[in-house]
Amino acid sequence: MQKTWWKESVVYQIYPRSFKDSNGDGIGDIPGIIEKLDYLKELGVDVVWLSPVYESPNDDNGYDISNYQAIMQEFGTMDDWERMIKEMHDRGIKLMMDLVVNHTSDEHAWFVESSKSKDNPYRDYYFWRPGRDGREPNNWVSVFSGSAWLYDEQTDEYFLHLFSKKQPDLNWENPRVRREVYDMMKWWLDKGVDGFRMDVINFISKVPELPNAPGEGRYEWGGQYFMNGPHVHEYLQEMNREVLSKYDMMTVGEMPGVTPEEACRYANLDGRELNMVFQFEHMDLDSGWGGKWDVKPWSLADLKQTMTKWQKGLEGRAWNSLYMNNHDQPRMVSRFGNDKEYRVISAKMLATFLHMMQGTPYIYQGEELGMTNIQLDGIEDYRDVEIHNMYRERVIESGWDHGHVMWTIHVKGRDNARTPIQWDDSPNAGFTTGEPWLAVNPNYREINAKAAVADPDSIYHYYRKLIQLRKSHEIIVYGTYDLIMEDHGQIYAYTRTLGKEKLLVLCNFSGDQAHYAVPGRIAVSEEAELLIGNYDGIIEERPATAPLRPYEARVYRWK
Ligand code: NOJ
Repeated sequence: MQKTWWKESVVYQIYPRSFKDSNGDGIGDIPGIIEKLDYLKELGVDVVWLSPVYESPNDDNGYDISNYQAIMQEFGTMDDWERMIKEMHDRGIKLMMDLVVNHTSDEHAWFVESSKSKDNPYRDYYFWRPGRDGREPNNWVSVFSGSAWLYDEQTDEYFLHLFSKKQPDLNWENPRVRREVYDMMKWWLDKGVDGFRMDVINFISKVPELPNAPGEGRYEWGGQYFMNGPHVHEYLQEMNREVLSKYDMMTVGEMPGVTPEEACRYANLDGRELNMVFQFEHMDLDSGWGGKWDVKPWSLADLKQTMTKWQKGLEGRAWNSLYMNNHDQPRMVSRFGNDKEYRVISAKMLATFLHMMQGTPYIYQGEELGMTNIQLDGIEDYRDVEIHNMYRERVIESGWDHGHVMWTIHVKGRDNARTPIQWDDSPNAGFTTGEPWLAVNPNYREINAKAAVADPDSIYHYYRKLIQLRKSHEIIVYGTYDLIMEDHGQIYAYTRTLGKEKLLVLCNFSGDQAHYAVPGRIAVSEEAELLIGNYDGIIEERPATAPLRPYEARVYRWK
């Protein structure tokens, strides 16, 4: 397989609003990021993915952009941004910016123009349609609840917004839209950025007729008409020809509803489109038919099946990204581990589990500290537009039980991931000297970066070690993956193989001791070394026999 830096890298995601506030307004900012670059350098990450820092009215915390070529005032200035990228590059850290071009803000100049009249030159930058029988043009539901259309009196038409009503969808069928996006991308690349994470980029091509979605409900999921739509590969190949191929850069496409077959086109090793995709199948394992708020328990058997499907499905053809949390997902240790008695051990186990697979690992800010979910008492304590829209629709408009809905928010809400980073045990966890925009998790006195850096056994130092191992063992990057012990109820085990070299990765996903026998076909050599493990004390027994302690992870290597 061809070797490239983005396969060998570890990415760290910064959600700027919650990372570090430098001026006491309670909101993280770019000078705050600069303050913490040495911390990231010490951790050993190669690339920072920075969630949006562009000008935005913040209906969806920067994912609603009103000017792609300006910095949000709350975050600082363009000079601050220039200083940040320089300071990153000086430390050998690359910068991947967020590219949000499925939609803009309704306050973007293009949309303001397009709303003025039906014959405005920008009208066709968006999806404007007349109503049908006194209703919306179709029955699509928005990802953030309610109709995906908003009526506009001025021109007596509706516009499409797959997300909030302040995020109108761009019409990629219009070549002028594509040209504007490519020019904007080049402008940032010429300023030195090293890549883009592309927001819901597999939504950009809609079936032109915008047909009704099947179902009898008032609003229904129309994903089949806009996910992986008719021209999406054409557009990405065009973007690749016009922009991506001209730079040494890294790309990852966020793609809800993508299958491994589709991913092999989007992220093919031939390099005609993107480098990798974020898929969601493992993030949907605890969702029922009703979607993310229809919470159900996840199962280890399903996790094995899903991860293996992606590992094998892309092997030798495309490239995986590896993640278990980000700014849209609950905290991984609360969801897949144990955030009480085994918080430290299970966070390390999950890190081992992910970082030993084939693909590029993404660490979401605070993950390296084992930060946990939060339970805020009132709906007014939450900030996320998705949470508020869902609560309004279910509790206020439809009379669902408040307690049940709050429980789903505690388990699945995006604000779980967005509480401020816990830097130390001073007030507000050292995040701000002001009033934080979202509550700080009260567990910051115990869980914080200062304590983690000082403790050689911390989760933070374990991540450092995992990252260093990746730099010294090619097999972790390029080895092939095979699931073993498929039917084991507690352990997720797999091997990696590169030539004669092998890794055996054993992860106990339970709070009980787990016994096992490594299958006979795997000849564990006498010289197997324990590469990394999350418990103190070396296991003297052979890997084939020693039981795993609660949430224990061990990786053996031999030739
Ligand atoms: C995916 C982003 O990650 C999420 O935060 C955002 O709300 C939607 N796309 C809409 O931009």
